[in-house]
Amino acid sequence: MGRLDERVAIVTGGARGIGAAVVRLLAAEGATVMIADILDSEGTTLAEELGAPARFLHLDVSDERGWQKAVAKAEQHAGPVSVLVNNAGIAGWGTLEEESLLQFRRVLDVNLQGTWLGMRTAAPSLRRAGGGVIVNMSSLAGLTGYAGVGAYVASKWGVRGLTKTAALELAGDGVRVCSVHPGAIRTAMTAGFDDRFVAGQPIPRFGTPEEVARTVLFIITEATFATGSEFVLDGGVLA
Ligand code: NAI
Repeated sequence: MGRLDERVAIVTGGARGIGAAVVRLLAAEGATVMIADILDSEGTTLAEELGAPARFLHLDVSDERGWQKAVAKAEQHAGPVSVLVNNAGIAGWGTLEEESLLQFRRVLDVNLQGTWLGMRTAAPSLRRAGGGVIVNMSSLAGLTGYAGVGAYVASKWGVRGLTKTAALELAGDGVRVCSVHPGAIRTAMTAGFDDRFVAGQPIPRFGTPEEVARTVLFIITEATFATGSEFVLDGGVLA
């Protein structure tokens, strides 16, 4: 018996990295998991590896129509969605004066608009499921500033703010909404950073995607009195 038997979950950016670790853990707990991503090959391979209850859905999270189709497909495949993990995200590098308007908009479109669209499109399905949980992937960059990644920081502060608003709006429907704030996690996104980047942290190493995934599972299954809450896992950076 898994803790998520008969639950239907959508995990965006689920084809690799942190999202793939979340997909694996939710599937191991019995959930039917929709892997929503733009990486068709990686997403399909992961779905095949996990077997029948997992399914890949091509979704660009910045696209409203795409979200409508994805939620409809998830419902047709397995029933109302009761878990949504808005994890898809991109980084954008460049100072205030270096970053182009186009780059700024793309980061906001994926990270912030994508999360907003996901919550508003899936909300009726979560209601039909009788309630559920939304977990939004923010960042340490949603709690503090970082030079050289202004659009990313803005998007992750926005995700944190949207999380609290949605928590207030959806509490009456039995839907909890929380944000996760990882520090440096070893994935493709941090491939350009070596161990010196984390050497000064109280826990002087990169976190793993599995450590983030376990926190997401905890929020879904155990943190039943938490909504609008921030879960920070940063190796002690903010301590
Ligand atoms: P990653 O680059 O390995 O994975 C990101 C996933 O999102 C990929 O599968 C990618 O194809 C997907 N994606 C990108 N744009 C998309 C779009 N428009 N529509 C659908 N899917 C899209 O990176 P990682 O590290 O696994 O990142 C996952 C989340 O964790 C992101 O939101 C990131 O900002 C956040 N995060 C990562 C940290 C790190 O140190 N790696 C630290 C804090 C937060």
